Amino acid sequence: MATILVTGASRGLGLEFVRQFRADGDRVIGTVRKEADAEAPRKLGAEIHLLDMRDGDGIAVLGKQLAGTPIDILIANAGIYEGRDTTLDEISEQVWIDTFRVNSVAPMLVARAFRDHVKAGRQRKMIAISSGFASISTNTKLGHYAYRSSKAALNAGWHALALAEPELIFIAMRPGWVRTAMGRPEAPLSPEESVTGMRRVIARATQADSGKFLGYDGTEIAW
Ligand SMILES: NC(=O)c1ccc[n+]([C@@H]2O[C@H](COP(=O)([O-])OP(=O)(O)OC[C@H]3O[C@@H](n4cnc5c(N)ncnc54)[C@H](OP(=O)(O)O)[C@@H]3O)[C@@H](O)[C@H]2O)c1
Repeated sequence: MATILVTGASRGLGLEFVRQFRADGDRVIGTVRKEADAEAPRKLGAEIHLLDMRDGDGIAVLGKQLAGTPIDILIANAGIYEGRDTTLDEISEQVWIDTFRVNSVAPMLVARAFRDHVKAGRQRKMIAISSGFASISTNTKLGHYAYRSSKAALNAGWHALALAEPELIFIAMRPGWVRTAMGRPEAPLSPEESVTGMRRVIARATQADSGKFLGYDGTEIAW
């Protein structure tokens, strides 16, 4: 039995990670930001803690609260995508800053708060749920400035952590375009397909993969 920590366990990919790891009999510790949203992951058997990713102190406090709990796989999944197709003239300063707080800064704070827990685990894997939008070299689409830059920043941070923490395996993952509230109904992948693929990639990952940006099918994504 492995112990998994998943942020943003209320719905979408986070809830699907909970469902699949629990179905395998793993211990899952999840975070949600509202008590009302704890019900779905709790029903699946997850232990739920309330945490808003914009609360840096709260992230550190949870790390201390769980001191002594080894974590095999940490999945920094919580994320936001606001201001769809935004043009340069429409960019909201506040939305961009909020997007960075949740998508770029919070995962790094989670890594800091839980680094020792993951070092004490057997698998020692730190997974950041990134996005294909983070890839600068493959970008052909206009707009999405806040989201794409926040995920590119996340990738840069995760890559740098891979260099700084050679005992741990840091992987940024592209889940594909998935039918969640964020991905919308027209997305080609179900949460089950995406998470099944990501879990396969995570299970096979070794130290040699640390610092990589990988797709849910295991392909390496260009930065
Ligand atoms: N779906 C896609 O096609 C797609 C593609 C590429 C990357 N991703 C990435 O995959 C991850 C999961 O997204 P999803 O598709 O499952 O989207 P989703 O259904 O919108 O779920 C987002 C999750 O993040 C949580 N979250 C957002 N802001 C938070 C905050 N301030 N504090 C705590 N939790 C917060 C949400 O909690 P609440 O319920 O409280 O809002 C929810 O659990 C994200 O990082 C996203 O960027 C998704």
